[in-house]
Amino acid sequence: MSEPSESADIVIVGTGHGGAQAAISLRQRGAEGRIVMIGRDTAPPYERPPLSKEYLAGDKAFERILIRPEKFWADKGVELKLGAAVAAVDGAAHQITLSDGSTIGYRKLIWAGGGDPRRLACPGAGLKGVFYVRDKSDADAMMDALSAGAKRAVVIGGGYIGLEAAAVLRKLDCAVTVVETQNRVLARVAGETLSRFYEDEHRQHGVDLRLSTGVSQILGDGGKVARVALDTGEEIACDMVIVGIGIVPSIAPLIAAGAAASNGVDVDFCCRTTLDDVYAIGDCAAHANPFADQAVIRLESVQNANDMANTVAKAIMGEKEPYEALPWFWSNQYDLKLQTAGLNLGFDQAITRGDPATRKFTIVYMKEGRPIAFDCVGTMKDYVQGRKLLESRPDKIDPALLADPETPLKELL
Ligand code: NAI
Repeated sequence: MSEPSESADIVIVGTGHGGAQAAISLRQRGAEGRIVMIGRDTAPPYERPPLSKEYLAGDKAFERILIRPEKFWADKGVELKLGAAVAAVDGAAHQITLSDGSTIGYRKLIWAGGGDPRRLACPGAGLKGVFYVRDKSDADAMMDALSAGAKRAVVIGGGYIGLEAAAVLRKLDCAVTVVETQNRVLARVAGETLSRFYEDEHRQHGVDLRLSTGVSQILGDGGKVARVALDTGEEIACDMVIVGIGIVPSIAPLIAAGAAASNGVDVDFCCRTTLDDVYAIGDCAAHANPFADQAVIRLESVQNANDMANTVAKAIMGEKEPYEALPWFWSNQYDLKLQTAGLNLGFDQAITRGDPATRKFTIVYMKEGRPIAFDCVGTMKDYVQGRKLLESRPDKIDPALLADPETPLKELL
């Protein structure tokens, strides 16, 4: 074992929401040693949600999506190593190796590596004009293509990325076709009523939505995308392709180091991996979630990244508190704001509260008579009160009361 090139008290891998919040929270709690934060991204920590919304639409400049102004990090003594990737973790030696061969020793390592976009596997997937949406550079490349005159887009995947990008592209007056393999959009995260509502909205905004449809090939012209061939045999002419077909947790160095992993790297109640002094947080961390009956899951959300970061900062500073934050999510599409509280995993009943035709309604997901999650479209009050209700770990509630929009959820607490 050779001496590392340099050492830090705490090394944070990843400059997304989780990594940034971990550094902020450690300093807030009085951590004094050297903190080094390493990111493949060349930009300082920024918010990811606007990349498929206001940033992509050109409505928010990059400075406005920075998690903190650039000088904050230096002021707090958090050293950023940007444009740097971790190639290996040596758990026994407590050191990491970067892809340039340099090594950094750590007392504690926080892995906030997030995920990489799942890549399309069909022929033509490498053509110019095929975009993913994860980093600023991805959004910038799409914006460049739009500025250069792209007017027809095929969006592959009807999840959050695909639908948010489709809404922005329609606003920019692009022709948009969305291709989704499942028989409904948002199938990973929502029940059928919400899916059908969003399908109608996108169709009304002029999106050509193809459900239960796959892509067999992307065809090019001079190395650039020209058409997308569907598995129905049809070909759709386009200037750009946007792929949003999920993420793959970015944890290879941890697995190579021997960390237990399943769908993500396994962590305990305070986000410790099975490697000594190595924690993992955010999209890549598989944990037993109290709002999913302790099922081991990964959560891909800003809330989860931030709250896990706080849990780890506390644990490192000697306050071991279990991670038990209520999950919440949001999505902006057109003028609609969707806010979700809780997890609908394993729901056996979905109650519609209000009328989707008014574009303001709530879906209540139930399991064995208890509400477990709320999807709120334009119903901020239900979202706020629904969060409180879920945090109170409610017992059985009469579905008729939940279905009645005139009965405030706070009255059911
Ligand atoms: P996703 O998992 O939400 O949706 C992927 C969609 O692609 C699914 O509907 C799936 O059925 C479909 N799909 C998979 N393979 C396909 C194929 N070969 N052809 C056509 N469709 C296919 O993942 P998405 O939208 O890529 O988002 C990536 C990450 O970004 C997630 O972590 C998501 O939570 C996060 N994100 C969250 C947002 C929010 O909370 N509002 C907004 C944007 C992204």
